[in-house]
Amino acid sequence: MRVAKRARAPIAGSTIVITGAGSGMGRAFAQRLSAHGSPVAIVDVNGAALEETAASLPGPVLSRTVDVRDLDAQIQFAADVAAWAPAPIGMVFNNAGVALASFVAEASPADDDWLISINFGGVVNGVRAFLPILLEQDSGAIVNMSSVMGLVGAPSQSAYCSAKFAVRGFTEALRHELRGTGVRAATVLPGGVKTNLMRTARVHSDPRGYGRSADEIASEFEQIARSTPARAAEVIHRGVDAGKARIFVGYEARMVDVLVRLAPNRYFGVLDLVQRNAERQVGTIPRRRPVRSA
Ligand SMILES: NC(=O)c1ccc[n+]([C@@H]2O[C@H](COP(=O)([O-])OP(=O)(O)OC[C@H]3O[C@@H](n4cnc5c(N)ncnc54)[C@H](O)[C@@H]3O)[C@@H](O)[C@H]2O)c1
Repeated sequence: MRVAKRARAPIAGSTIVITGAGSGMGRAFAQRLSAHGSPVAIVDVNGAALEETAASLPGPVLSRTVDVRDLDAQIQFAADVAAWAPAPIGMVFNNAGVALASFVAEASPADDDWLISINFGGVVNGVRAFLPILLEQDSGAIVNMSSVMGLVGAPSQSAYCSAKFAVRGFTEALRHELRGTGVRAATVLPGGVKTNLMRTARVHSDPRGYGRSADEIASEFEQIARSTPARAAEVIHRGVDAGKARIFVGYEARMVDVLVRLAPNRYFGVLDLVQRNAERQVGTIPRRRPVRSA
């Protein structure tokens, strides 16, 4: 059966919902869409950071301190947004997330559950809260934050990769379910973006085995990451307007996508080499020998 394509309106000017808007890509996206004339409805678990974002926006804003793991709070927020929204909801960006570095053999189940319940559970909660409103409007985009780590596996990232693969699978299933409606779903797959992600990460051990502290790992991540939050916001905005199903942020994200198709069993050797070169450039590895024995 052929499903007729509908014309898509640009998202600028419509109401935009963003989770994790207290920092990084969520904040930059709120700032960009507000500057493009959108009322924005924003949440974050960090109330102080969220209010900084709200104060930086030139247009109408509704902000709530919400933990995305709390489905009831997300449903209440969705009802508040529906009552407040000066324009139909054009996009719901389930973006909030955290990071964790921990080898499977040494993992803390509580930390793995923490990450998966935010990075995947929080996305599912956001979809459950807002999908009925978008279906009722018969318009709008659900945009869920995955990662290149939703395409490949990496040592010390088992929980993060699990959550990001799950977001990609969930979003693709949803996208196909929505065929024939005015609502669509897209997945965002960034490579490295200079944000606070690693500053708030739970780091059990140096994933590369050099004995670096959590602060050193975060500084290095910020030096190696190529994109900025503002650039990521621009790419995501254009990708949603273009109706893309998968929005890659950064050329390395596209490269990972190609690599994993060409060499599904060997991609890690190439990624490891690229990572080592980047670490050499910022000066991490020649000075230190790996200390991890397991
Ligand atoms: N930075 C990168 O290189 C990168 C790459 C790929 C994917 N991502 C993903 O992008 C998303 C945004 O991360 P970022 O890089 O902008 O990091 P960030 O740390 O700057 O921003 C994340 C925001 O999410 C909020 N948050 C965390 N837990 C929350 C919870 N339980 N409820 C509500 N809000 C919560 C934080 O307070 C923070 O404001 C995350 O899902 C992350 O996994 C980041």
